[in-house]
Amino acid sequence: MVGRVKTGISGIDKMLYGGVPEKSQVLITGGPGAGKTMFSFEYLYRNAKMGNTGIFFAFEEDPDRVLENVKSAFTELTDIDDVVRDGKLVFDAETPIINALDASEIGHSSYEFGKVMTNIESKIRELNATRVVIDSISVFDIMIRDAALYRKYMLALITNLRRLGVTSLMTIEMESPDRDKLIFKPEYFIFDGIIALYQTGEETKRLLASEVLKIRGSRHSFVTTPYDITPSGFRVFAAEDITPY
Ligand SMILES: Nc1ncnc2c1ncn2[C@@H]1O[C@H](COP(=O)(O)OP(=O)(O)OP(=O)(O)O)[C@@H](O)[C@H]1O
Ligand SMILES: [Mg+2]
Repeated sequence: MVGRVKTGISGIDKMLYGGVPEKSQVLITGGPGAGKTMFSFEYLYRNAKMGNTGIFFAFEEDPDRVLENVKSAFTELTDIDDVVRDGKLVFDAETPIINALDASEIGHSSYEFGKVMTNIESKIRELNATRVVIDSISVFDIMIRDAALYRKYMLALITNLRRLGVTSLMTIEMESPDRDKLIFKPEYFIFDGIIALYQTGEETKRLLASEVLKIRGSRHSFVTTPYDITPSGFRVFAAEDITPY
């Protein structure tokens, strides 16, 4: 039986009947500001505290800014710096988008992708990491304009991460933050799991809700569940009393 990896976010682990399957490659999709970065950071933070080394590959933002943001949002998680200092949670800066600004031609984007993949692999091996976050893989979509090639690269990325034995969360932008407008993009089908973070409601009363869209080979909740980003981390109000079996 495949083991499960806790996200460490208790409501989500409930919805996942214990966690995501070990070595699975899971997509975190959501609109701007839904909390994709915070969520994936908390996964690594909680896992680091459980003794599992994780790497946060920051593709879009400077790692120092990510760290600053999570510390200002999660004020009650006072040991974030200690966990980072201990090397249990490592930030890695990647700038594929800058490198790829003129990578419109296929040969060049292949080269850039190869470079990024090599770096990801060597970092994982060097640190013996078992938990990975890539924030976000939307850059690949911008970098690789050819749809078939983009899909092929996504498959290569997932296959490589699986081979390395890591359990990963990869964030991706959702076209619309609203559940009603959810579109399954072709690349969604190659991931082992998808968790969506929605935002609905008016500006003055924003509602946040999470949903497990799929987890291959595993039971999970189908209920769209409200969440909040609090000083002590994500609070996901899982309503069901789920007993894993
Ligand atoms: N200091 C803070 N205190 C409380 N909530 C915060 C704080 N900083 C951020 N947040 C919450 O976190 C949200 C942003 O989270 P995050 O950066 O993870 O979103 P994202 O989905 O990664 O967005 P993007 O698509 O822009 O990368 C904000 O919209 C806000 O609700
Ligand atoms: Mg983000």
